[in-house]
Amino acid sequence: MARTPLLMGNWKMYKTVAEARAFAEALGQQSQKLDSRIEYAICAPYTCLHVLRVMLPAQVRLGAQNVFPEKEGAYTGEIAPGMLAEFGTKFVLAGHSERRMLFGESDQFINQKVKAIVANGMTPVLCVGENSSQKEDGVTQEVVTGQVLKGLDGLSADEVANAVVAYEPVWAIGSGKTATPEDAQEVARAIRAAVAETWSDQAAEGFRILYGGSVKPENVASFVREPDLDGALVGGASLDPTSFAAMAEAI
Ligand code: G3H
Repeated sequence: MARTPLLMGNWKMYKTVAEARAFAEALGQQSQKLDSRIEYAICAPYTCLHVLRVMLPAQVRLGAQNVFPEKEGAYTGEIAPGMLAEFGTKFVLAGHSERRMLFGESDQFINQKVKAIVANGMTPVLCVGENSSQKEDGVTQEVVTGQVLKGLDGLSADEVANAVVAYEPVWAIGSGKTATPEDAQEVARAIRAAVAETWSDQAAEGFRILYGGSVKPENVASFVREPDLDGALVGGASLDPTSFAAMAEAI
């Protein structure tokens, strides 16, 4: 079965509610560039989710950038998966390299988040990627497949088939450098092979793999046309509605 392409923005800690409203209005004016055969999503700061839910074109799904893997409790500053699901959030990022590095998130903690996201009926977007010294040491595939297997551990084959993995080389994030499409494809192929071996061929054929790291309108198509890449997770270039629409058009 063909996988539906997915273009996902990650706004990180950018945009006020007023700025999110302006983005949604401007994207709405270009909604003819959004193709119904492609799925779109924006992972926004929590404070922007409401205005986006109300104002984004219907083809663009809501995503969150984080979640805490408990139903409720005394966890000041955290947000529960059920709260996001109730709000209509479809996608939740887990294991973004900024959270791994800045907040010390382990593969085990990320796996708890992935399981909580799935248990609440949302789709996890498990982010993985090697850093520059791992790339230089030639251990990219081991690092990345290890992160995938640990992150998805405990899910059923059907749950894996519905998940999303975002391959984002750490050295490519916000740097203006990208992996070559061929190198990203090789890593994606290795991820799919590891999933096939651990779960099933059906799971491996079903789940979507996004490339992330300095994606922009000029290069997005070169990644998405690779056979094992199904879309992109975009930071900086997703902040501008014209750039988001241009990426939508380019895929
Ligand atoms: O989640 C998105 C990635 O961190 C990529 O960010 O497109 O600004 O390089 P970037």
